[in-house]
Amino acid sequence: MSSSRRSFLKNIGIGAGLVATSPIISSVKNPENEKLKEIRKSAERRPNMSFNMCGYAAPKLDTVRIGFVGIGDRGSGAVKRMTYIDGVEITALCDIRQAAVDGAQKILDEEGLPKAKEFVNGDLGFKELCSSGLCDLVYVATPWEWHVPVGLAAMEGGCHTALEVSAAKTMDECWDMVETSERTKKHCVILENCCYDFFELLTLNMVRQGAFGDLVHGEGAYIHDLDYWHFNKPKDDKMSDGAYTKMWRLHENKRKANVYPTHGLGPICQAMDINRGDKMDYLTAMMSNDFTLKNRIAEKAKEDPFFEQFIGWEMRGNMDMQMIRSNKGRTILIQHDVSSPRPYSRIHMLSGTSCFAQKWPLKHIAFGHDIADEAKMKELEEKYQPEIIRRVGEMAKQVGGHGGMDFMMDWRMIDCLRNGLPMDMDVYDAAAWSCITPLSEWSIANGSQPIEIPDFTRGAWKTNKPVELTLKGGGTTTVRNLKKANSEGQLEVK
Ligand SMILES: NC(=O)c1ccc[n+]([C@@H]2O[C@H](COP(=O)([O-])OP(=O)(O)OC[C@H]3O[C@@H](n4cnc5c(N)ncnc54)[C@H](O)[C@@H]3O)[C@@H](O)[C@H]2O)c1
Repeated sequence: MSSSRRSFLKNIGIGAGLVATSPIISSVKNPENEKLKEIRKSAERRPNMSFNMCGYAAPKLDTVRIGFVGIGDRGSGAVKRMTYIDGVEITALCDIRQAAVDGAQKILDEEGLPKAKEFVNGDLGFKELCSSGLCDLVYVATPWEWHVPVGLAAMEGGCHTALEVSAAKTMDECWDMVETSERTKKHCVILENCCYDFFELLTLNMVRQGAFGDLVHGEGAYIHDLDYWHFNKPKDDKMSDGAYTKMWRLHENKRKANVYPTHGLGPICQAMDINRGDKMDYLTAMMSNDFTLKNRIAEKAKEDPFFEQFIGWEMRGNMDMQMIRSNKGRTILIQHDVSSPRPYSRIHMLSGTSCFAQKWPLKHIAFGHDIADEAKMKELEEKYQPEIIRRVGEMAKQVGGHGGMDFMMDWRMIDCLRNGLPMDMDVYDAAAWSCITPLSEWSIANGSQPIEIPDFTRGAWKTNKPVELTLKGGGTTTVRNLKKANSEGQLEVK
């Protein structure tokens, strides 16, 4: 054990001796196998920072030429959204399926835009796109295993990159993203659209304006019954035409970890200025047994022999949770359940010394015991609505994409690139939010023992500036083809 890890365990009062003598913990603790050892070892990887990408303003791009890699359900929506943003050219399209690229070309054609160059050449076809010189930004919406390989190739090829969530699957991938972004000075953005949802932005601005007093605790989640999507059988032999190509999302359920932490965690981290004034110190994780997935597979196999191939899979439990403590002594609880029959929730709860807010199951804000009534909520929205919502909120609702948050995210990223502004969600956020997956895997397998969350900023969190909410220096990017936009491409805001 390295001295830094030893002193970390000592500082938080948990050492190997204590764990070994606890009958409850020793009964659930697994021997640390090679994979778990690897997680712990790479959590301790500490490269020197070569350049601080937080707050970095890359040279302005008047036009942002985008290449898309992975154009399934999510990627095709992103192509469509980008057609509305001025200063964007969609120059390249890559997928392992020609049908996916054809679908994107059709979107461009419908919007009166020129055809993009196609890259359809197996799993590694993205390499050619990344080195083609055709793109300033590579937008990645593949299954999780390809996010980082594509992102690294993009940065090495001289492009910024934006990765769908979760950005990375392993600790090493997290560090690889950070090191490559710093060395190439290319942005590596995590596309955490939930940070741009209306209530999340409102509460972030309230925190920033001091309405919460000191923020003490936050809760977030990804609770989404994916039964339909998990078991949507592909229509063709190549397993390409299901809800998820090759049923990749069902395959990911074999991992006993929070495999999708960022929807709940991202907005809480922004409210707590994680990596920009505070940092996550350590987590402990716990997972229930699986009470549904194995049974569903057995049921489906009775109906259709296609599903027999999944019998015997060791599935993740239904619910897993992570408790995280920050350097400033705040706490975060993250939940993840994609296989229980229950309503959707990301919780989004923030608790401070003078205000409380929660989005699911019922949106409310409270000051002490009193929950704000409709009139008070209106007043709060008037007072604390951040500039981005005032500027593009209505347009975003019109474009759609999870009620508008997807468009606000895309618009903001393009506006930052065009105005040479730093990214709201940089490579350190991508790494810190995504690393919850391997770290929760380690903690779950080790009787919920705490594990340190690496400081990907290597100390820069103490001086990094919080996410900018005023659109200062930007806000100039207009939209096109939206029926209700005025001649300047802006919606009239009443
Ligand atoms: N932010 C959100 O709200 C949100 C919502 C849904 C999905 N997602 C994320 O978007 C990503 C894609 O999910 P999806 O639902 O669109 O899945 P999907 O299966 O519909 O699409 C994935 C696409 O990637 C292609 N692909 C696979 N391997 C490839 C490779 N090596 N190179 C190029 N293309 C490849 C597939 O052919 C497919 O077209 C995932 O990371 C997922 O987590 C995010």
